[in-house]
Amino acid sequence: MAASKEQVLAALAKVPSPGGVALTDARVLSDIVVSDGKVFFSLTVDAAAVKAWEPVRKAAEDNVRAVPGVRSVLVALTAERAAGAATHGPNPAHVAQQPQRAAHPADKVQPGVPGVDAVIAVASGKGGVGKSTTAVNLALGLRDLGLKVGMLDADIYGPSLPKLLAIKEKPQTIGGTKLKPIDRYGLSVMSIGFLIDEETPMIWRGPMVMSAITQMLREVEWGKLDVMVVDMPPGTGDAQLTMAQQVPLKGAVIVSTPQDLALIDARRGVAMFKRVNVPVLGIVENMSYFLCPSCGTRSDIFGHGGARKEAERQGVPFLGEVPLHMTIREKSDSGLPVVATEPDGPHAKIYREIAAKVIEQIKGGAAAGRVAPKIVIEA
Ligand SMILES: Nc1ncnc2c1ncn2[C@@H]1O[C@H](COP(=O)(O)OP(=O)(O)OP(=O)(O)O)[C@@H](O)[C@H]1O
Ligand SMILES: [Mg+2]
Repeated sequence: MAASKEQVLAALAKVPSPGGVALTDARVLSDIVVSDGKVFFSLTVDAAAVKAWEPVRKAAEDNVRAVPGVRSVLVALTAERAAGAATHGPNPAHVAQQPQRAAHPADKVQPGVPGVDAVIAVASGKGGVGKSTTAVNLALGLRDLGLKVGMLDADIYGPSLPKLLAIKEKPQTIGGTKLKPIDRYGLSVMSIGFLIDEETPMIWRGPMVMSAITQMLREVEWGKLDVMVVDMPPGTGDAQLTMAQQVPLKGAVIVSTPQDLALIDARRGVAMFKRVNVPVLGIVENMSYFLCPSCGTRSDIFGHGGARKEAERQGVPFLGEVPLHMTIREKSDSGLPVVATEPDGPHAKIYREIAAKVIEQIKGGAAAGRVAPKIVIEA
């Protein structure tokens, strides 16, 4: 028999929080998602008290795992900067950071994609930081949390999804008009790379880029999706800004490496999304540290931790650290993403934790209650 939310709550009521009250009374619990025997939720706690909460997180996971019908449990610990900010619903700290602007007569609401609950972008200010790799593994992490996930490759100039997911086939048409996304590892995927052969140089003019993106959003039979992950082109120029406006985004995840130069670009990325009123769901530090595959020694090649500090500075959540690891590169470049092919490995776990934090942000963070973003047309 499938486990219910009530059973999960009953199990959590037996876990004491550091303050002594039951976990269910401690005002730290996010919405609890129970789907097909998989349970996930997060505990949002004061950053200063994270150490004290870690055993509680562990106990919560163990207690829920013991509930009959539960197959897997993921409990993420999310740190809040301001004490006492851990409540349900939108986080006022984040809402306050959204830039305020007067309504412009040219503003129009960008309609959502029919059947798709949330469209999120994975973006970076700088190219080559591992955005597409992160996007694919994040999408798979979301899938592992029981969600129906789609992926749209919005990198028109250099589409990566055909390679990262080893997709060679062409999408079929439905009724002669709509395209059917390609299914890979349970993800519904669409990329311009499926339609144009790899050798063709991509020479697009601005309006063509936009119509290609619009077609991939609206003329593809996406079906019902909980989340669509959009792999954005690198950079923060006009083209990216227009794209950030044109795609009906519920939020954006920024990927950065720890070097100062990449972080400056990540800052630009955060600013770009804020400018078009798209909530930043958080920053991921990719290639955060190097784990030697033969001896297991860790080295902080690019100076680790910069993205976490940058997230703090920008007042956006920090979503996690992904190591620089040969397995991630080899798997990614041969179309066998780690989360799909080594689901029990350490990297998959990291991506799933990032996925849980992203969902937490969509449900309870800055993007909660957001229906469709405003599109700003510059005069
Ligand atoms: N954590 C990681 N460990 C090892 N290699 C990685 C990691 N993340 C990404 N890579 C590798 O780095 C290279 C660039 O990654 P990717 O294509 O995902 O970056 P990108 O930011 O999408 O690039 P672009 O800006 O060109 O779109 C790839 O070869 C990929 O396999
Ligand atoms: Mg890419």
